[in-house]
Amino acid sequence: MSEINLEEQEFIYSFKKQYLQIVPLYNLNWQPIPSNLSVSAQAEILSIIKEYHIPNKITNNYTVQCLKKIINIIEKNFCEMNEDLLNFYLNLLFEEKNDNTNANNNININLNSTLITTINNNNNTSNNNINKTNEEDNNTWWKIYSLDKSCNNIIKLLEDKSMISKGTTGLRTWEASLRLSEYFIQNPKICKNKNIIELGAGIGLLSLICAKLGAKTVLATDVNCDVLQRLQQNIEANQLLLEKENCTIPKVEKLDWNEKYLDMSEYKNLDLIICADVIYNPENIEPLVNILSIFLKAIPLITIILCNPLRQQSTYDLFLEQLNKHNITIHIELIDQVPMIFYHDEEFSQIQMTIINKKDE
Ligand SMILES: C[S@@+](CC[C@H](N)C(=O)[O-])C[C@H]1O[C@@H](n2cnc3c(N)ncnc32)[C@H](O)[C@@H]1O
Repeated sequence: MSEINLEEQEFIYSFKKQYLQIVPLYNLNWQPIPSNLSVSAQAEILSIIKEYHIPNKITNNYTVQCLKKIINIIEKNFCEMNEDLLNFYLNLLFEEKNDNTNANNNININLNSTLITTINNNNNTSNNNINKTNEEDNNTWWKIYSLDKSCNNIIKLLEDKSMISKGTTGLRTWEASLRLSEYFIQNPKICKNKNIIELGAGIGLLSLICAKLGAKTVLATDVNCDVLQRLQQNIEANQLLLEKENCTIPKVEKLDWNEKYLDMSEYKNLDLIICADVIYNPENIEPLVNILSIFLKAIPLITIILCNPLRQQSTYDLFLEQLNKHNITIHIELIDQVPMIFYHDEEFSQIQMTIINKKDE
């Protein structure tokens, strides 16, 4: 087979990084599109897909749509088609069609069985549990966030596909976490050798980034049990990689902002508090600011960095009001100039940082 040229290599890097992050199909941007995609380059793409499609639980539909786009490029440029790639695509397309038919049949079966269940009034709990596990399994996939273009420096996270599941927003990575991660990568001194706590950590991207950037310790906290469990699972999934790089392994702990009393002896060495996308629910603002104020009273020089998209100005105003009530002064910075490292699927021009005790790093 022929050698893969530079233009093709760049395309393969771009494809791989986006495929591993499972960037939404409407946002895929594999620029620059090469003028030729040789049989060897296609073989490389196929080997990437084969390596990650099943282990990362990437859906058949997502992979089929990616392959369809690639086949379009091949056809448009009149390139020779790699038969293995084409066969893989056709098999997957067939499987996907079958999956859809089965899903439709299942709906019919479920409708019928609901009727029968109602008639018999026969609750079968073990079947319910199996359905619940399948549902959970179908709603998650492994996303890989790469800090470099060739996917050698990565963080992998088991994420929910939906924005809200099990009554929480914490089971997926939000835009503010991605942007604040990029800000820290750009300014690594903020994290280097620091003792860091994350509030409302969700499934852990930001805490893991801090560990990668050389934090001395990282404590990732949240309130929701499902979130805490997933956070622990994700930290364990990255443990080997972190150990190889001699990085600290984040610890997980439950911390509810509604806690009225905190044993500060546990936290006295902290240098930095970080929070991404925690200013969204008006009901949570008062407890959030209360907990920040408890930390500030115990450690007056601690730096606090919050990052959030400006969804509702009224919610942010409420946050400012509460800060004011506690005599906490802040510094606001927009984050739009920070270079992007990951792929983003939301409008993020309105993401801002609120900093308390800003230090010049
Ligand atoms: C929108 S999610 C953001 C998750 C993560 N920081 C991110 O940006 O991907 C908000 C997080 O705040 C957590 N949270 C909400 N109320 C909380 C509370 N009272 N105490 C601690 N965490 C809370 C939720 O469980 C959830 O994980």
